[in-house]
Amino acid sequence: MTQNRLRLLAAFLPALMLGTAVYAQDIAAEEPLVGDPERGKVVYQRIGICVDCHGWAGDGRSGRNPRSPDAGASLRETTMFVEDLVEVVRCGRPGTQMPHFEGAAYRDDRCYGLTMEDFGDDEIGPIHGKTFREQDAYDVVAYLQQSMIGLGDPN
Ligand code: HEC
Repeated sequence: MTQNRLRLLAAFLPALMLGTAVYAQDIAAEEPLVGDPERGKVVYQRIGICVDCHGWAGDGRSGRNPRSPDAGASLRETTMFVEDLVEVVRCGRPGTQMPHFEGAAYRDDRCYGLTMEDFGDDEIGPIHGKTFREQDAYDVVAYLQQSMIGLGDPN
């Protein structure tokens, strides 16, 4: 009897330990942010006004605001993945018209290791867009992924 129990315990012990480990990991790791593409569409069109430069179809042409300073890159052709896309939205592309949407960017060196002081007066420094929450960045990226990236020319 006792031996049977021991065998049973031996059989289940690894599963038990694994369960505990997974649970411990769950509470240790921060919840990863998941973007909501529906909300991302609102961010794209009305909050971040990405549409002004990148166009409604994200091709950098269609329906963009002709008075916006520069055509945006074609988002349909980008080859970047989520984390890098989120970084471009948070940090922008200094030296181009692509704004940064994280309020504290370039106040400390969270973006590309650079602060405002690293930019001279005679170059285009970082341009501040509207301040996003981190969730906004994930939402807009989810929208790009659902409706633009890799989809070829809009029809
Ligand atoms: C004022 C114009 C402007 C606005 C507004 C703007 N962008 Fe951009 N964006 C650009 C330009 C110009 C580039 C190309 C920068 C470069 O040459 O590297 C760019 C590049 C990007 C890239 C990198 C693409 C690649 O493959 O390199 C992403 C992603 C992007 N924009 C997303 C967004 C999103 C999302 C928003 C809104 C939250 C937004 N942009 C708002 C002008 C803009």
